[in-house]
Amino acid sequence: MLEAAIDTVGLRKEFARNVAVADLSLRVGRGEVFGFLGPNGAGKTTSLKLMLGLVEPTAGGGTVLGAPLGERDIRARIGFLPEHFRFHDCLTAAELLDLHGRLLGVRAPALKLRRNALLARVGLEEAADRTLKTYSKGMLQRVGLAQALLGNPDLVFLDEPTSGLDPLGRVLVREIIEELRAGGATVFLNSHLLGEVEATCDRVAFVKHGRVVHELLLAEMQSGLDVEIRVADADTALLNGLSEFGSDARLDGGLVRLRVAHERSLPAIARWLASRGTDLYELKCRKKTLEEWFIEVMGEDQGPG
Ligand SMILES: Nc1ncnc2c1ncn2[C@@H]1O[C@H](COP(=O)(O)OP(=O)(O)O)[C@@H](O)[C@H]1O
Ligand SMILES: [Mg+2]
Repeated sequence: MLEAAIDTVGLRKEFARNVAVADLSLRVGRGEVFGFLGPNGAGKTTSLKLMLGLVEPTAGGGTVLGAPLGERDIRARIGFLPEHFRFHDCLTAAELLDLHGRLLGVRAPALKLRRNALLARVGLEEAADRTLKTYSKGMLQRVGLAQALLGNPDLVFLDEPTSGLDPLGRVLVREIIEELRAGGATVFLNSHLLGEVEATCDRVAFVKHGRVVHELLLAEMQSGLDVEIRVADADTALLNGLSEFGSDARLDGGLVRLRVAHERSLPAIARWLASRGTDLYELKCRKKTLEEWFIEVMGEDQGPG
C-alpha cells in the first residue's frame, strides 16, 4: 500500500466502564479518501479524536503523517471539522478564520487572501462580516469547513460534515473533497450518509462496537456482482465448480449464489455449465449498494441509532 497517512495499532478508549473504541487497527494511505462508517455510538468520533491526539488512548497507539499520535508539531498540517462544533459566536466569520489562522502561524497578508478565498469557496463571501450568532446551522458548518482547510492541510478529518447542510451544501462538501484529493491530501470522513460516502470515498471501513468489522474498496464493490443461478439439480459438485468463478458460493434452496469480481465471469459461468451438460434456467446478477453492505455487515443486532 501507499505510505501511511494514518497508522494505528490496537487503539482502545474506555470512558469509565463504557468501551467507546475497543481495538482499532487501521491504515490509511497518503492521498486516500477514506470513509469510516458505523451506526451512532459505534465509536467513530472517539476514534477520530484519538487520531487527532485530543483524547488519550487507554491502550494502543499509532502515527499520523509519520509522527506519534498527539505530537503538537504535526497539528498545523491537519485540518479538523468537529461533529459538534462550538465557535465564538460574538466573532464574524472573517474574525474567526483570522483567529484560527494566527493560531496556525499564518501571517497577514497571506492570511487575509486565504481567508477570503475560503469564505468565497464555501459561499459565505456576503456573510463574512456578520457575527456567527446570526448564522444558521448550515452556515456554521460552512465556516467550520473553511476553518478546517485554512492551513492547507495534508490530512483532513471531517466528522459528519454534511449533517447540517442542505443538498447544495452537500454538493459543496463533495466538491471540496474532490479538490483535496486532486491536491494530494488525505481525507478521513466520518459519516452515516452512505450515498455521500459512495460518491466520494476510495475505501471504507465499517465500525461496530468500537471495532472495524469489514473494509471495502469501493472500486471493487462497484465492479463486483452478486450472482444467482438456477439449474435443474444443484449439488455439491456443481457448487465446488462454481466456486472457482467467485467467492462466497453457497446453496440457497434450489439456487446457487456467489459473488464475482467482474461481469466477465458471467459468460464464463454459462459456458462452463453448458460444457458439463447442466441445464441453466436462470442467471441473474445485481450490484450490491453500500447501503446493502452496511446492513449485511452490521447485522440485525443493530437497532436504530
Ligand atoms: N467524553 C465521553 N465520556 C463518556 N462517554 C463517551 C464520551 N465520548 C463518547 N462516549 C461514549 O462512547 C461511545 C462512542 O461514542 P462516539 O465515539 O461519539 O460514537 P459515534 O461517533 O460513532 O456516534 C458512546 O457510547 C458514547 O456515549
Ligand atoms: Mg460521532
